[in-house]
Amino acid sequence: MFICICHGVTDTQIESAIDNGAETMKQLTQELKVGSQCGKCCQCTKRVLNKKLMQIAEAQPQVA
Ligand code: FES
Repeated sequence: MFICICHGVTDTQIESAIDNGAETMKQLTQELKVGSQCGKCCQCTKRVLNKKLMQIAEAQPQVA
């Protein structure tokens, strides 16, 4: 699904950028240009980012 229409960025591209180490909106903007034009995709990109970071955190082994 396209998240950023201005730059043609999909949720899959955002997720793989996060898998490759991006952890902030700024890093995603530098890497994929999301949010750097009209800004309408910022909310949606943040949602994808937060969801993915939660999934990564939940997959980590818990330190008891
Ligand atoms: S839709 Fe992403 S900057 Fe316009």
